[in-house]
Amino acid sequence: MLNQIIEIVKKAGEIYRSAGNDLGICEKSSSVDLVTKYDKKIQDFLYTELKKVVPEAQLFGEEGDGNKELTDGYCFIIDPIDGTTNFIKGFQHSAISVGLAKDKELIIGVVLDPDLNNLYYAEKGKGAFLNGKPIHVSDYNIEKSLALFGTCPYEHELAHKTFTLTEEIFYKALEVRRGGSAALDICYIAAGKADIYYELILRPWDWAGATLILHEAGGICTQVNGDKLSLNKITSYVCGNEKNLKEFYEIYNAQ
Ligand code: IPD
Ligand code: CA
Ligand code: CA
Repeated sequence: MLNQIIEIVKKAGEIYRSAGNDLGICEKSSSVDLVTKYDKKIQDFLYTELKKVVPEAQLFGEEGDGNKELTDGYCFIIDPIDGTTNFIKGFQHSAISVGLAKDKELIIGVVLDPDLNNLYYAEKGKGAFLNGKPIHVSDYNIEKSLALFGTCPYEHELAHKTFTLTEEIFYKALEVRRGGSAALDICYIAAGKADIYYELILRPWDWAGATLILHEAGGICTQVNGDKLSLNKITSYVCGNEKNLKEFYEIYNAQ
């Protein structure tokens, strides 16, 4: 099943890369929450093709009015383009993300960076891989951590909290970065390209696929206060290793 999903995600990457000048940009919840015809095109393609692999599966994707609830049995959780703003700008840092859950537990994660052609994937219990090579999270403490963060771009009321927290992390960590794709941020932690990532609001499709990859790479993720995540809830998110997460919770709780 994993290989079939990988082949489908690779083909979705071709659709992403075929984008010309007319992206068909529309606003969603606000003038900074944008969607393109490619977000929809890729989601439609993934829905059709993934359904052929697991016909009984439910489809839970970001775009359109379809199902937004995780169901029992098989369920695909899809973000057709994570990092749409980057895609629109040609910033070349976005992801196509597919997670597969069975009875609400993630069992497969496939995340493609279609600009660099980097493919991250994992199957429960079988390790995590980047382009066929095993990956693992780092074990750096905060002092040696490169910290990634998300700005919750569609919830401006969280900006002050985000930037106050990030100022504190900036003083304590090696450096901070804002990439613009939560799914890729999590994969970067899984691959040890960075060491900790947090954002005060994420939707399940932002993190589902990447989170199985993170777990299989030895990483840990929770809400920013340490509470458990749920694939059915919009919550905050932090991931890293045991050492830097412990320090993160102390910094967060002292805010
Ligand atoms: C967004 C990106 C961004 C993160 C936002 C997400 P989208 O997803 O992952 O990095 O900061 O919270 O909503 O809208 O580009 O699919
Ligand atoms: Ca997203
Ligand atoms: Ca998206």
